Amino acid sequence: MSDPGPLRILHLTDAHILPDAGARFYGIDTAASLRTVIQAANRRRYDLVLFTGDLAQEPVAESYRRLAGICTELQAPCYWLPGNHDDPVLARSILGATPLLHAPVLHSGAWLIACLDSTLPDSAGGSLSARQLELLNRTLNGNPERHTLIALHHHPIACGSAWMDTMILDNAEEFLRILQRHPQVRLVLHGHTHQAADAATRGLRVLGTPSTCIQFKPASTAFALDTERPGYRWLDLGRDGSVETGICRVAASDST
Ligand SMILES: [Fe+2]
Repeated sequence: MSDPGPLRILHLTDAHILPDAGARFYGIDTAASLRTVIQAANRRRYDLVLFTGDLAQEPVAESYRRLAGICTELQAPCYWLPGNHDDPVLARSILGATPLLHAPVLHSGAWLIACLDSTLPDSAGGSLSARQLELLNRTLNGNPERHTLIALHHHPIACGSAWMDTMILDNAEEFLRILQRHPQVRLVLHGHTHQAADAATRGLRVLGTPSTCIQFKPASTAFALDTERPGYRWLDLGRDGSVETGICRVAASDST
């Protein structure tokens, strides 16, 4: 039998889609920027897309419809989870009628992917509810043999920007303690910080990914935009649990 090779993941995050065509968010047409990022990503092969929240900037039906329209250009199934700018109930209702998928647990070959909802109503910060933590515990206890990737919107370790770290996952300690008990967990993938990050904590690898639109300046005391380009992360997940990953940013001429 031929080697199926790694599971190739495309990670997109923080699209901040607006309801009106041509509308801009900090000077960027977020829909056009997402389209450009997807077109750039389509030069690679990928098996699965993970979209880790802030799908919409204004969480109204038309924002999600526009998102779904742009995502028809994706070349593999796309699973989304909500961010603090989203309305999870509305997003489920609108996107449920589109090819975009929402599932707490995915199995693909040797890998398990857990997609958590870290949103808190009316808050930019994040928290995992008792129900989400119970789901996580149960999933990890029931699948010790599967290499595992955990995806969520909020960052579980400080990113180093004081203003952004006020909006960190507030029960990260409890979350990380659960993961530590399960050596099959290979990595945590998050959005929210609008910047690339590759950190290690307690034997876990924690990866952050640029937004598909605006970028936040790293190591900032107060809110500040960066001049980095929008982008995406690619991950090749090996059957042996290995992880290869990198960031690709779209060329300046691609997105304006
Ligand atoms: Fe965001």
